[in-house]
Amino acid sequence: MASPSSGQRPFLRPCWVEVHLAALQRNLHYIKTRLSPHTAILAVVKANGYGHGALAVAQAALQAGAHFLGVSSLEEGIALREGGVTAPILILGSLYPYEVLPLLWKHRLSPTVASLAMAEALNRLSQERRQRIPVHVKIDSGFGRIGVSIAHALSTLRRIHALPGLKLEGLYTHLAAAESDPAYTREQLTAFAQVVQAFQALRWAGRWIHAANSAALFQYPESHWTLVRPGLAMYGIQPFVGRPTPEPFGTTPEPLGTPALPLEPVLTWKTQVVFVKQLPAGNSLSYGRSFTTTRQSRIATIPVGYADGYPWQLSNVGQVLIQGRRVPVVGRVTMDMTMVDVTDLGHCEVGEEVVLVGTQGAERLTAEEVAARAGTISYDLLCGIAHRVPRLVTGMGGGLGG
Ligand SMILES: Cc1ncc(COP(=O)(O)O)c(C=O)c1O
Repeated sequence: MASPSSGQRPFLRPCWVEVHLAALQRNLHYIKTRLSPHTAILAVVKANGYGHGALAVAQAALQAGAHFLGVSSLEEGIALREGGVTAPILILGSLYPYEVLPLLWKHRLSPTVASLAMAEALNRLSQERRQRIPVHVKIDSGFGRIGVSIAHALSTLRRIHALPGLKLEGLYTHLAAAESDPAYTREQLTAFAQVVQAFQALRWAGRWIHAANSAALFQYPESHWTLVRPGLAMYGIQPFVGRPTPEPFGTTPEPLGTPALPLEPVLTWKTQVVFVKQLPAGNSLSYGRSFTTTRQSRIATIPVGYADGYPWQLSNVGQVLIQGRRVPVVGRVTMDMTMVDVTDLGHCEVGEEVVLVGTQGAERLTAEEVAARAGTISYDLLCGIAHRVPRLVTGMGGGLGG
């Protein structure tokens, strides 16, 4: 994607994220090739679409054929409705306090029911309103977060199914380690399948049965059922490539390996050099003086810091791309600014484009690598990109937009 020139940009500080929706749609098309025609897609757009911008991602995903959207909270669902989204939306999180529940009817949002108490609270409201509500019941097959336990699944499902105010249209579970632990994943899938089959034997005929996140959908066809819930893969992140360990600058980075799947990263995070200076050897930099120049150095300052979601943990271990080359972060990342050592570039001026996550020329810094350098995971890095960093969306009808 060509970067907007400063005259075209709807923001004043040069630190922005570019979101390439055509890539997201190609990722969804690829995901579809891995599914049977009977399996639909629930696009997971929670946490502001993993930092990409929930509304734009939701619209692109629906246009590419997703049937459902998944959010984490009422607020996220309401924001999509207010943005004009009419498709079914499932709230994947647990709703509390129960006083918020009437908003489900108002905005036509489907809740996850993770307990009998929640089901009964919804049933009372449904009866008052004389309007049934579609729900998905979550079974905890071994994640240990929310959901009806496997041991009580069948008895609880029977009681929920008997509640006249609820339309039990979905049954689902979430996998704890689909990217890394086949034995445990199979145990979870088997336990869930037994519940589904036993419940179907009791004449439950709900339409939606789901278990697969990104890592599962590519590896466990038995996890597909009638709906899959990709997040990461839709955003072009490899769901099960080994995480590279952070390397000190100057050593060869651990190879990421050939990407296992033909997925394209959707997000590029960019900034520009705003200040350049020459420093002699022996000069310390930034808070805590954790870096001292060992040679005559050229140090550039970029306007991004931990308040933008650029991890503080990248202090002295991060890398950025300038002129298609890797350049090290030197000293501590500060709240709004970070220093990089551009001595080896020979020539680097104010205004030079800097890629924090993404591709520049032949060089690439994936979200997976940047996250690993910060000692975290790509989900955390992407969701953490702050609200104050504008998202420039392209790819749907072209042009730049909010
Ligand atoms: C319930 C649920 N389903 C699906 C997903 C999507 O997972 P992934 O991004 O690994 O595809 C998530 C993500 O956190 C989730 O919580």
